[in-house]
Amino acid sequence: MCVDPQKLKDNFALVGANGLDVAEYFYADLFAREPGLRTMFPAAMAKQHEVLLAALSQIVSSVDDPDALVPFLRDLGRRHHEFGVVGDHYGPVGASLLATLAYFSGPEWNEELERDWTAAYEIVAKVMSEAAVAS
Ligand code: HEM
Repeated sequence: MCVDPQKLKDNFALVGANGLDVAEYFYADLFAREPGLRTMFPAAMAKQHEVLLAALSQIVSSVDDPDALVPFLRDLGRRHHEFGVVGDHYGPVGASLLATLAYFSGPEWNEELERDWTAAYEIVAKVMSEAAVAS
């Protein structure tokens, strides 16, 4: 991956310091962007907020360790296939993730981070959706 893993880790540490607000912002952005996705999720989102943050944290911590990251993403992708997630869903989710990272990064956000996070998310989405097709 042509990104600097340490920059992603540092940025995620900065963003993640805002705790569950990060997940709340992400889903508010996603459901404003794509209201039709709301019904795919449970009415009560507290648990989802926690598991999303835990998964993102796991992904970022192993971003420079493909032997750990790829199996994790493939399993996640297969489960998402069972949730009814299809390839087209990855675009809006990526846009909301980028918007969330930008928001909580504040003045630290810059074009390089935007480019690196976009590249990293594209790989995550590719591995998850390819595993879904293979399952
Ligand atoms: C970076 C990409 C993503 C990450 C890290 C992520 C993370 C998670 C996690 C950790 C869960 C809990 C269940 C499990 O672990 O299997 C989950 C559930 C779910 N995710 Fe994702 N997800 C991602 C992308 C997406 C996309 C693109 C969609 C499409 C709308 C989506 C929709 C869902 C749905 C519908 C559930 C099940 C909710 C429920 O019924 O409990 N996710 N996600």
